[in-house]
Amino acid sequence: MALNLIMLGPPGAGKGTQAERFATAKGIPRISTGDILREAVQAGTELGKRAKAIMERGELVSDEIMIGIVRERLARDDVRAGFILDGFPRTVPQAKALDGIMAGRDPLIVLNIDVADEELVRRLTTRMICKECGTNAAVEDAAVPGSRCKKCGGAMVQRADDSVAVIIARLKTYQRDTKPLVNFYGARPTYRSVNGAQPPDQVAADLIAAIAAVSKTAPSGAHA
Ligand code: AP5
Ligand code: MG
Repeated sequence: MALNLIMLGPPGAGKGTQAERFATAKGIPRISTGDILREAVQAGTELGKRAKAIMERGELVSDEIMIGIVRERLARDDVRAGFILDGFPRTVPQAKALDGIMAGRDPLIVLNIDVADEELVRRLTTRMICKECGTNAAVEDAAVPGSRCKKCGGAMVQRADDSVAVIIARLKTYQRDTKPLVNFYGARPTYRSVNGAQPPDQVAADLIAAIAAVSKTAPSGAHA
């Protein structure tokens, strides 16, 4: 069965951190819509020009654009053995469109990472990313001033949307537009929620256990 995973959760929950681990461990692509948009901003493409101001306000890029990006990405051959979506879907219309894209494929496994707001704000205000390649600093390195990226040696900077004002806006957007997905997916046998307020290794272990549990319930070839 293909490992078709969605990482759900608020800003700072650890979606990217955990998705990256899985992608490496399982050899399947991580599809981060936030990374796709940040790369477009950095490259100055039409998409990037439209997305920049929206992201810096903590709002969402339109469903139409995001669904188009993901539809195209999931049509490629490298997702046959599975994929990890990080940051998509983010609205009920995106989730409905994804169900359409997944028709006839193995079921979506939906993993929600749950973390309280105060901890999210703490993580995001202290997060450092690489200016060159966008990689997050490791949890233990996040607060070390002057550190360099372990992947490419680039300078570590604050992410453009990690100011307190924009973090608050992102959390509000999450509550309004994305949290309803917990209800949208919650009744499916392939949905699980884990406690994200634990060390990353423990969160990863809980996610692996959740995937093992839902894989037993999931019929192959049709989405739940
Ligand atoms: P996106 O890039 O998806 O940002 P986000 O959802 O706000 O989430 P983050 O990337 O900030 O957090 P994360 O959950 O990945 O946590 P991470 O692992 O980095 O989206 C950015 C913007 O793009 C959106 O606001 C929107 O404008 C637009 N966009 C993207 N997708 C869209 C869509 N589908 N539709 C419309 N618009 C879209 O961890 C955070 C920090 O915590 C790091 O420093 C990390 O080291 C640390 N950390 C991780 N795990 C732990 C742990 N267990 N304990 C302690 N620290 C931890
Ligand atoms: Mg992320």
